[in-house]
Amino acid sequence: MNETIRTLKSRVSVKKYTDKQVPDDLLDAVLEAGLYAPSGMNNQKIYSVAVRDKATRDLLAQLNTRIRGADTDMFYGAPCVIVVLADPERNTWVEDGSLVMGNLLNAAHSLGLSACWIHRARETFDLPEGKELLRKWGLPERLRGVGNCVLGYTDTPPIPKERASGRILKIDQA
Ligand SMILES: Cc1cc2nc3c(=O)[nH]c(=O)nc-3n(C[C@H](O)[C@H](O)[C@H](O)COP(=O)(O)O)c2cc1C
Repeated sequence: MNETIRTLKSRVSVKKYTDKQVPDDLLDAVLEAGLYAPSGMNNQKIYSVAVRDKATRDLLAQLNTRIRGADTDMFYGAPCVIVVLADPERNTWVEDGSLVMGNLLNAAHSLGLSACWIHRARETFDLPEGKELLRKWGLPERLRGVGNCVLGYTDTPPIPKERASGRILKIDQA
């Protein structure tokens, strides 16, 4: 097994984070890995917004919690979140954004960071509060959220989950 396959097979969604912030060099490496995801017709219309500012991180977590109808921190205490946004004028926007999310999650793991995809980015950036953030960040208001990749460190790493069997088929010549 090579290093890439080992990384893919050992990645886990981490749902408990310490306060330790993600340093610049690791965050930049994760963000850059996102740029290398493929996109339909090479449109590259996917944006990754890394948020470490506590007030903005807390606002995003609060909106997420409100949309979910819950009362806990949906970001599990992670101090950093990368919001992935895509241009819905491209008919592959969901697929393009999801591939970026996959790159972010796997790159984070390869660098010793913990990460998890947190849902409801679409609903968040469809809200007036989300549109206001897009304006503040200088991004087009038509962008739609694909996913939130929370990032940080954990002191209780989970064990990778068993994979369900019977989901691979190989159709070879009879
Ligand atoms: C599209 C998508 C949305 C997800 N949303 C959430 C979420 O909102 N909250 C959460 O705790 N985990 C979320 N997850 C993480 C899944 O719970 C996790 O991937 C799944 O349990 C498998 O575990 P693993 O990532 O450790 O293999 C999401 C994953 C995907 C792919």
